[in-house]
Amino acid sequence: MRELPPTPIKDALRSPVPIEAIRVQGWVRTRRDSKDFSFIELNDGSSLRNLQVIAKNDALDNYAEIQRLSTGSSIVVSGALVPSQGKGQKWELLAQNIEIVGGADDTYPLQKKGHTPEFLREIAHLRPRSNLFGCVFRVRSRLAFAVHQFFQDRGFIYVHTPIITASDCEGAGELFRVSTIDINNPPRKNSDIDYAQDFFARQTYLTVSGQLEAEAFACALTNVYTFGPTFRAENSNTSRQDSEFWMIEPEMAFCDLAGNMDLAEEFVKYLIADAKKHCPEEMELFGKFVDQELLSRLDFVLERPFQRITYNNAIELLRKSGEKFEFPIDYGLNLQSEHERWLTEKHFKCPLTVFNFPKEIKPFYMRSNDDAKTVAAMDLLVPGIGEIVGGSQREERLEMLEANMHQHNMDPADYKWYLDLRRYGTVPHSGFGLGFERMLMFVTGVSNIRDVIPFARTPGSAEF
Ligand code: 4AD
Ligand code: MG
Repeated sequence: MRELPPTPIKDALRSPVPIEAIRVQGWVRTRRDSKDFSFIELNDGSSLRNLQVIAKNDALDNYAEIQRLSTGSSIVVSGALVPSQGKGQKWELLAQNIEIVGGADDTYPLQKKGHTPEFLREIAHLRPRSNLFGCVFRVRSRLAFAVHQFFQDRGFIYVHTPIITASDCEGAGELFRVSTIDINNPPRKNSDIDYAQDFFARQTYLTVSGQLEAEAFACALTNVYTFGPTFRAENSNTSRQDSEFWMIEPEMAFCDLAGNMDLAEEFVKYLIADAKKHCPEEMELFGKFVDQELLSRLDFVLERPFQRITYNNAIELLRKSGEKFEFPIDYGLNLQSEHERWLTEKHFKCPLTVFNFPKEIKPFYMRSNDDAKTVAAMDLLVPGIGEIVGGSQREERLEMLEANMHQHNMDPADYKWYLDLRRYGTVPHSGFGLGFERMLMFVTGVSNIRDVIPFARTPGSAEF
């Protein structure tokens, strides 16, 4: 007889009817003994909830071994799914056979008691087995799917932009170099390292953004998006920065800044609504154990239009706030996280899009406004985090773009292909980047970016 295929525990728990013969597999969360039984709480990561397995002395040859099964062990159970005698669950599994696949002794770090996220971060390879991280990573998976659904439903084309690139899109110089040069004995030309002899015959880096390449595709396919890993060598250890993070970047031809802001707002709301709809158990856990205001905050965000103000007005509000900030506030300075959070948490008490930033603090590709001082940039700020989206209308006028490059000390010759997009059939176009991890922080209430990415990469840390 062929072996029964395994049923995910999630499906077993949702079964509308008893099942005579079922097979499940997973890891033991807890086990407790009564006289001639053992109760095993089994979890396979398909859902937050465990399936209770009843192991009876008289039904199992290896009952003595079952009685020694400890937390963390892996087992395969066959038996009957029957209505549960106990409370709290509809079904339980009456075991006819239990195969012990892999034991775990008492050094297994995830014993039953609750653990702090800090402790769990140090065992990043085991933390997906905890309730909290199981929930976080199921939501992450669901929202990655929802990203595609959102854009595909709207006719956007998914583009795989390169991970290795020769350009510094954001101009911030926060680049990880990609090279096969022997660092102990680099080829030299005069006294400088000769990158013409490197693998790509030029200096190359891990990408900080897929935007420039996405623009090329938007100027052919009209509406496109990228969704991939992004790398930034910012040497700062904050709770909202990761050296390797995932970013979603839509890019739209024939679209201005207002259309861009509308799409960002619709997108953020869509992802929140999707998590609420498809991950109710997970969201309930976050609301109970991570942030008690989470669910009401998200409902509030869904119900209202986001606020919009110019950078100038934001500075004005910050100045008049009477708040003591660590960083100075002045026209022409970047908004710091504390300023962003004051605006969205204290003042507006809702998500907020700030637009029209001073030219000097923004990258070369943003479109100059008619005042010649500001560019058509936007940042979407949310409570608890600050910026989750950064975007702009792009400079589509060739001469203006070349002038911007000179002002940023860039050589237009290095960006010939990018300038070609303005030479041949240029169009107004816009796009933005949503930091996927920051969005996950917002949706789950988890307050450290290291806890919403499977294996965090931060300065001084790449253990796993
Ligand atoms: O504002 P940023 O730097 O914008 C861009 O890269 C544009 N090229 C996007 C575009 O217009 N296509 O980054 C966009 C978003 C930020 O708002 C933030 O959510 C996230 O990416 N982000 C980070 N997330 C985690 N760790 C970091 N170090 C991040 N840096 C940016
Ligand atoms: Mg930004």
